[in-house]
Amino acid sequence: MPVICHNAAELEAMAQAGRCAARTLASVASRLAPGVTTAQIDRWVREDTRRRGASPSQLGYNGFPAAVCTSVNEVVCHGIPSETRVLGDGDIINVDVTSCLNGFHGDTSVTVAIGQVPAAARRVLEAAKACLDAGIAAVRPGARLGDIAAAVMKVAAEHGCGVVEQYGGHGIGRKMHMYPHVSHVGRAGCGVRLRPGMTFTIEPMLTIGRPELVVLDDGWTVVTRDGSPSAQFEHTIEVTPTGAKVLTLANVGDVFSNIL
Ligand code: MF3
Ligand code: CO
Ligand code: CO
Repeated sequence: MPVICHNAAELEAMAQAGRCAARTLASVASRLAPGVTTAQIDRWVREDTRRRGASPSQLGYNGFPAAVCTSVNEVVCHGIPSETRVLGDGDIINVDVTSCLNGFHGDTSVTVAIGQVPAAARRVLEAAKACLDAGIAAVRPGARLGDIAAAVMKVAAEHGCGVVEQYGGHGIGRKMHMYPHVSHVGRAGCGVRLRPGMTFTIEPMLTIGRPELVVLDDGWTVVTRDGSPSAQFEHTIEVTPTGAKVLTLANVGDVFSNIL
């Protein structure tokens, strides 16, 4: 299956969609505090997304019942917002926003600590952030998807954390989920070769210890088998002629390049 390489006009539209998703995520993340329910986060995401002239890509996707994924503590991904899940001091929560603007999608997530969190949760959160940065730093034309996975795995191991295998990043463009699958477990030098104009997400999910997962009866919520906390960060990335550009930054002109 060929990987789509976008032209300049398409990349500009992707940049706008990415910025849109990033701004919604930033605005929602800044309002997280003890007492907020995950259902309230869903309402904020719907309002902010529409205010920007976009639509929430996740709402109704394969039947997903909400506009945003809210994954608290042992929830690894695809947490469904709920009126009864109230954030409290010591929780960590991943908020995953995907917005569709003018026919193109931007997908980004952060994990946020609510108040004082236990050391283990803090460690997995920091590790996930460092793994996303390492994955992005491996992106350049001629590199391979396996180079991203290898970079993520190395940093996870340095933090004593496990990397989730069953879920990963994905091509993104006119659809939220496109070919190729971007695994965070793999070998350097293997997999699809990166070319300018490709756009995909990097979104490592990290666990403390062994990354064994269970999907709850709702068919969506993915949790760690042992109940230990998990964290994730996600950006939408463009392969540029010299490196990588992060499309899901909230600030205009905030550009990441691997060629310093
Ligand atoms: N935003 C998620 C991702 O990073 C998509 C979740 S699919 C949903 O790929 F249906 F659960 F929303
Ligand atoms: Co996402
Ligand atoms: Co994604």
